[in-house]
Amino acid sequence: MVAVHAFDTFLQERLIPVRLSEPLAPFTTMKVGGPADFFVEPRTPGELAATFRAAKECDVPVRILGSGANLLIRDEGVRGAVIRLTHFNRRDGLHVQAGYNFARLVKETAAEGLGGLECLAGIPAQVGGAIRMNAGGRHGETSSAVKYVDVMTPEGDLRRLTRDEVGFRYRGTDLGSAVVLAAGFDLRPSAGIWERYDEVLSQKKSSQPLGTHNAGCMFKNPPGGHAGRIIDECGLKGMRVGNAHVSERHANFIENDGGATAADILTLVEKIQQRASQPLELEVLVW
Ligand code: EPU
Repeated sequence: MVAVHAFDTFLQERLIPVRLSEPLAPFTTMKVGGPADFFVEPRTPGELAATFRAAKECDVPVRILGSGANLLIRDEGVRGAVIRLTHFNRRDGLHVQAGYNFARLVKETAAEGLGGLECLAGIPAQVGGAIRMNAGGRHGETSSAVKYVDVMTPEGDLRRLTRDEVGFRYRGTDLGSAVVLAAGFDLRPSAGIWERYDEVLSQKKSSQPLGTHNAGCMFKNPPGGHAGRIIDECGLKGMRVGNAHVSERHANFIENDGGATAADILTLVEKIQQRASQPLELEVLVW
């Protein structure tokens, strides 16, 4: 406990914004989960590096929270520090900081007639999260439009990685404990970009329960298949535990009707995995 107190004292002495026992549910789209011991919002790369240094010295585990859209936080909350890059939210042309709203970037570049991101319309994320998770869907994935990624290592060193060095794969990267600070996108002026954006967004609106409290697709698609179709074909739409249920609109979504706990959702996840006709692996991260 002595070491734990030293961590927030260290941050407060350097005027780095930190809050104790911060409820995390409001920072997620699913709206469940307990508090973080420390919630840190550094304003500069220097403050972020100092936060890492303090965490290492005090043996405090660190996690980076984006828009909490692909995340389930357990009811007990998160021990250690949760960092949010709220203040890293600038866009300079095609160089965009990690805390920038990804859906907004996709919409803005589509409106500017720049092609490359329009196939990702409507994905809730921060730029950093979209890069780290290689967010995407049926029409494409983030990696295709990335030129470079600026990261900070846990030692506080800054590096610019080429797209190949990021090691993009299906819903993941090789970034490990490096934190995305910004990315450069490779977008080209082309015709019909806004129309395509609009089409992808409409398709998403008609097939997914947007506007409810959910974490997007819960499971990864197994090779050659679709988790949503598999769950649907097993007749599991509407299955309920507590205040959570399998979406009627898209079976790979779980909706929180209000007041669901993380335990409800995890029990529902297990039930789906037991009853599905194929092994299903979680896509959503669990903290
Ligand atoms: N389907 C059903 N029943 C359902 C849901 C889907 O039969 O309840 C069928 C559809 O009719 C379709 C097929 O399954 O034939 C695929 O459905 P969809 O087009 O919705 O695509 P998906 O594979 O389920 C993927 C991504 C989504 C992304 C969409 C659209 C994964 C795990 N999911 O879904 O991503 O929005 O494509 O691009 O890769 C997410 O990652 O959180 C997410 C929602």
